[in-house]
Amino acid sequence: MLIKAGRINLIIIDIDYRMKRDDIFLSKDPNMGDFVFDETVASVFDDMISRSVPGYASIVAMIGLLAGKYIQDNTNCYDLGASTGIASKAVLENLKAKNSSLIAVDSSKAMTELCKAKLSVFSDKNVINIVTDDICNIHIGNASMVILNLTLQFISPDSRLKLLKKIYKGMKPGGILLLSEKVKFKDKNEDMLQTELYHVFKELNGYSKLEISRKRTALENVLVSDTIDTHIKRLKRSGFKKTYKWFQCFNFVSLLAMK
Ligand SMILES: C[S@@+](CC[C@H](N)C(=O)[O-])C[C@H]1O[C@@H](n2cnc3c(N)ncnc32)[C@H](O)[C@@H]1O
Repeated sequence: MLIKAGRINLIIIDIDYRMKRDDIFLSKDPNMGDFVFDETVASVFDDMISRSVPGYASIVAMIGLLAGKYIQDNTNCYDLGASTGIASKAVLENLKAKNSSLIAVDSSKAMTELCKAKLSVFSDKNVINIVTDDICNIHIGNASMVILNLTLQFISPDSRLKLLKKIYKGMKPGGILLLSEKVKFKDKNEDMLQTELYHVFKELNGYSKLEISRKRTALENVLVSDTIDTHIKRLKRSGFKKTYKWFQCFNFVSLLAMK
């Protein structure tokens, strides 16, 4: 949604706060195993991510801004690990390029079903392809913007370089990769501080200490974070000439890699 306020254009993101409240880890049996993006998670996802990721609303709003600036005419924008389509929606709301296509990919069918519903209002005016598949399997081509918003952390560390090389190869000169991740810090004191502040953020957003600790355990083998330095070096090895950190809030960062 773009609101004109005097001479300033404000990009406001429109997360569906009517979605069911996330209380999965209040009632969940703590021995239920690893976190999965199944129907239960998908049904509360918008509430979960906006209460769990510090700065999420800002990141999504800036994805919209970047889409308006960087998506080129006659090219593709890929949203990889699109979930329910929150970032894709911000792209479509801010798209200026002519004859461009959005390809939103997620391996969870429960997620792509909700993504289809969320993006259906844009389908008259835009070419939108919502794909249920592993992002390591899909072809990337003619891309002027690729979004990996909190997704790479769920890809096996061994496969990350190969995926980024494929993305780089499929991108147009002047294209951008937006990579947001939860990160760890080499300095143990900083790691403890940033993690502690992140947990305070979650508590202020209504999660109990028990829910925070249960989710942390469930994510332990599933979300494998890297340091900012590891990300930047890997992007360089993938071919990206320049990478800038444009956002950080506690242990969440967003990087902009340019081809
Ligand atoms: C934290 S969510 C991403 C949030 C989303 N990008 C956004 O901006 O709101 C991670 C998503 O990545 C998806 N995912 C994880 N591994 C995947 C893979 N190998 N291929 C495709 N999607 C994957 C999950 O199903 C989940 O929906």
